[in-house]
Amino acid sequence: MSSVSRRIASISPSATLAVDAKAKALKASGVDVISFGAGEPDFPTPDAVVEAAIQACKDPVNYRYSSTSGLVELRQAIVDKTRRDCGLGYDPSQVLVTNGAKQAIANTFATLLDPGDEVLVSSPYWTTYPESIALAGGVSVFIPTDETTNFQCSIEQLEKARTDRTKALLFVSPSNPTGSVYSKDSMEQIGKWALDNGIWVITDEIYGHLVYGQAKQHSIVSLVPGLEDQSVIINGVSKTYAMTGWRIGWMIGPKQVIQAATNLQSHETSNVANVSQRAAIAALGMDLESIEKIRNIFDQRRIKIYSMLSNIEGVSCVEPQGAFYIFPSMKNFLGKQIKGKVANTTSELCEIILNEIAVAVTPGEAFGTPGYIRFSYALGDEELVEGINRLTTLLA
Ligand SMILES: Cc1ncc(COP(=O)(O)O)c(C=O)c1O
Repeated sequence: MSSVSRRIASISPSATLAVDAKAKALKASGVDVISFGAGEPDFPTPDAVVEAAIQACKDPVNYRYSSTSGLVELRQAIVDKTRRDCGLGYDPSQVLVTNGAKQAIANTFATLLDPGDEVLVSSPYWTTYPESIALAGGVSVFIPTDETTNFQCSIEQLEKARTDRTKALLFVSPSNPTGSVYSKDSMEQIGKWALDNGIWVITDEIYGHLVYGQAKQHSIVSLVPGLEDQSVIINGVSKTYAMTGWRIGWMIGPKQVIQAATNLQSHETSNVANVSQRAAIAALGMDLESIEKIRNIFDQRRIKIYSMLSNIEGVSCVEPQGAFYIFPSMKNFLGKQIKGKVANTTSELCEIILNEIAVAVTPGEAFGTPGYIRFSYALGDEELVEGINRLTTLLA
């Protein structure tokens, strides 16, 4: 008899974390690895946030269990932030603080889905969504997109994929892994379509502050009156404030859904660590200027990596407009000789890249889209240039 249940045995390990772990292990063994694998900013957490956490460590009020839904001051700060950035008015009772946005996503699917319920997910997708949907007993229905539509799906595609089992649409803009950002008009159309068809929208807005060029961030919920009654907003401090290790995320939605998700979380993890919650209050209290500085740094790197990758013959790139990822097509290199080896898949190509030039990148297979490679540009400027120079030489 197998020791692991069928349900859990069917989960794949996180491919993005696996690439990162391999790069870190190689680095620890003395190899000069440059990693474009990590989905986390390379900056330190801001001083004011760290200071708030130090103070919180000294206050015995934080040594005890607190409410599962989150400290009321943090939930109020999340409500204020959501009003400021999206113009949406929620009550703190509509917020559940979670261990990172990842837990908010898992809670949301577990709360909304019955066995067999279908969730529309456009691919390429962030590697966690389908696993989380499957764990909740749901079925992912993938909507394939590619560079010809800037990795965005259309109403026609959504309508074609809709069945009487369609419960929800997973919507993410800016996107991981493509950096694609939907226009206000497209968002509005998709939101209206969901509202008219009684489909829940789960909107992952974790990269909301990181948009560039002409792109503007909107929350799909704010564009369609009434959609707030069938939507869950996912967000957190990990990406904007360089706080991936602090594990603070949240979900916002109708009271009944949030209460049910809180009941679930009360049996899983109870409250999120109080010190991290106090740190998140400090982060959300920072002015928009501090965020702007971080956004500008990413923007410079985006411009650099886009231009360097586009200059490699055979690499075909769409200019990303958000997050900190770029997702070029590498199809031209499949089946060709590279340093005496032939890669037939992008997974194999990434192996060759790591082994030959010590550059870590994540294959499109991890995002349900073979033929592409994801580069995260959340790494230092010099490393970025050195890494792409190495790649340029390898692929020449
Ligand atoms: C699209 C997206 N949503 C959610 C998350 C999870 O973030 P957190 O660190 O808050 O769990 C990530 C992390 O990579 C992500 O890329």
